[in-house]
Amino acid sequence: MNRTYWEKIAPDYNVEIFDVLANDNKGLIRKTINRFASQQKTVVDIGCAIGKWLPLLSPGFKRVYAIDISAKNLDIAKKIYPEYKNVVYSRVNMSDPKAKLTKCDFAICINAILTDSLRKRDFFFGNLKKCVKKNGYIILVIPSLESSMLTSIIRNKWNPDKDAPAFISKRKKHRQLKNLLEGNAEIDNVPTKHYLKEELELLLELEGFTAEKFAKIEYEWTTEFLRPPFWLKEPRPWDWMVIARKK
Ligand SMILES: C[S@@+](CC[C@H](N)C(=O)[O-])C[C@H]1O[C@@H](n2cnc3c(N)ncnc32)[C@H](O)[C@@H]1O
Repeated sequence: MNRTYWEKIAPDYNVEIFDVLANDNKGLIRKTINRFASQQKTVVDIGCAIGKWLPLLSPGFKRVYAIDISAKNLDIAKKIYPEYKNVVYSRVNMSDPKAKLTKCDFAICINAILTDSLRKRDFFFGNLKKCVKKNGYIILVIPSLESSMLTSIIRNKWNPDKDAPAFISKRKKHRQLKNLLEGNAEIDNVPTKHYLKEELELLLELEGFTAEKFAKIEYEWTTEFLRPPFWLKEPRPWDWMVIARKK
């Protein structure tokens, strides 16, 4: 998952990429952003893509820094939302240790740290602290490894879509094992980093944040299976949302 990948996806972003805002049925992320919103505060949307969160951020904050690695995504966002005059767009690679970043009072980073490259993730996490002022907050939404494992276990046992491949394929076993040990799970054949709650807590602590609250952003089972069995209700699949304070 490099810049080329995100640039290529940009024109079909709405079809290709899961919409967290639309699927957050309880509106937990929205409510949390509204709780931090203030006309005296600045906010940065890290990995803003085509700007789905801007209608919430722009009216709620003094200034919004919308940053993304993809120039095409930023161009689309600018075109969709010409009315938001307090948004400053910039192309930034968060995995570049020399990235130029503006410290804000508040930050959101929603399903953006997905790369399967540990090196790129380390730089990305390192840059998070350069985005947030002391005692400022960040909302991070991240794919859950626990949820992904639950889906795998259900697929392996009940095979709701009758299409489950062999759990460990002979041909791919080395890659599958490596992915499993690193917390990468494939989404549409793309190895995508998923996180354990405790892993996230540790990563944030090491970068100078205190994870104050974790919540599950829960989705419908139809996001995982075409035909989920009628009895499959709770628990639902989820992403982790963490609210962390910069120390
Ligand atoms: C799955 S999309 C999520 C977009 C948006 N936050 C949302 O919730 O709709 C991930 C976004 O992160 C961006 N991204 C990935 N790696 C990045 C990096 N190293 N620096 C900045 N943006 C990055 C991608 O270009 C993409 O737009």
